[in-house]
Amino acid sequence: MKVLLTGGLGYIGSHTAVELISAGFEVEIMDNLYNSSINVLDKLKNITGKQIKFYKLDMCNLSDMDKMFKEGCFDAVIHFAGLKAVGESTKIPLTYYETNIGGTINLLKCMEKYGVNKLIFSSSACVYSTENVPPYKESGILKPINPYGRTKYFIEEILKDYVNANPKFKAIILRYFNPIGAHESGLIGENPNGIPNNLMPYITRTALGKLDQLTIFGDDYNTPDGTCIRDFIHVVDLAKGHLKALNKIEGLSGYNIYNLGTGHGYSVLEVLNSFNKVCENKVKYKLGKRREGDSECNFASSEKAEKELGFKTEKTIEEMCLSAFNFEKNNS
Ligand SMILES: NC(=O)c1ccc[n+]([C@@H]2O[C@H](COP(=O)([O-])OP(=O)(O)OC[C@H]3O[C@@H](n4cnc5c(N)ncnc54)[C@H](O)[C@@H]3O)[C@@H](O)[C@H]2O)c1
Repeated sequence: MKVLLTGGLGYIGSHTAVELISAGFEVEIMDNLYNSSINVLDKLKNITGKQIKFYKLDMCNLSDMDKMFKEGCFDAVIHFAGLKAVGESTKIPLTYYETNIGGTINLLKCMEKYGVNKLIFSSSACVYSTENVPPYKESGILKPINPYGRTKYFIEEILKDYVNANPKFKAIILRYFNPIGAHESGLIGENPNGIPNNLMPYITRTALGKLDQLTIFGDDYNTPDGTCIRDFIHVVDLAKGHLKALNKIEGLSGYNIYNLGTGHGYSVLEVLNSFNKVCENKVKYKLGKRREGDSECNFASSEKAEKELGFKTEKTIEEMCLSAFNFEKNNS
């Protein structure tokens, strides 16, 4: 099966490429390099021993996408490409709507024209309302609270409508929780440009002195140590979830949603303490105010993905910390 990964040079896409190639899939990658580097392609070749066909193009450009589909003859698409910074999305919402939603509509048009009927889409836990009580089930209330989350929610709705109108089309929506960690080779990992938005690259860069100190946003939440609780999942486990989904998609019909998380929450301080312990470090941090829009505690119900996809995470929080630090050191 030949699979197109949109945004496949990014953090989650690159790890998924490795897992798919190891499992015998043929993989091609499309990315505009907005938040990734062409060097990742060489690193994927180092890890897998395979040359991967790459299309540098923007999914907002329909005619470029059309040319790629004409050439590609894909059997399925995993759609990672998009903008993902919550804070930025509140400042430039139109860019987020145009890129994430407009790009997805272009993708669907091309899939329709070239008869590609299988899609796996990267959604997010941020589509859930904070009114839900953890563990969050797929059937929970949906109420994203920022433009980024709303792009994911709207795309889910668009896919639902599209599947209803096209019985041959099958879509799997994967709602990721909080991916961290890196590939064991240390060659690929989370490598955000500028100041990181996510916890782990902030920790690893502070540990190496690239950043002064970590700020923990809020220590007065109603949690055992006062800091927020999230479902951190190793990116390699997450990548393997895509393989499970791809193997199942043929047998599924219509529109299907799965959480990809561990089903277990760790607080921000617990992650920091694990990092300090296994990486023998003492990351400097300060306690700051709560950040607007952060929920106190969320973690996934992983039952549906386990029952229907056979997905179960394997890696520990210590492995997440060690692999992330290994990647950061390799990339210094
Ligand atoms: N990392 C997370 O915490 C997380 C959590 C939930 C959902 N997601 C979603 O998963 C997907 C992948 O996330 P990631 O962490 O790997 O992000 P990433 O930024 O590392 O990867 C996304 C890739 O898409 C590319 N891209 C962006 N706009 C594009 C465009 N217009 N045309 C072509 N390529 C474009 C970027 O260059 C990048 O390589 C995203 O859709 C994101 O919203 C991520």
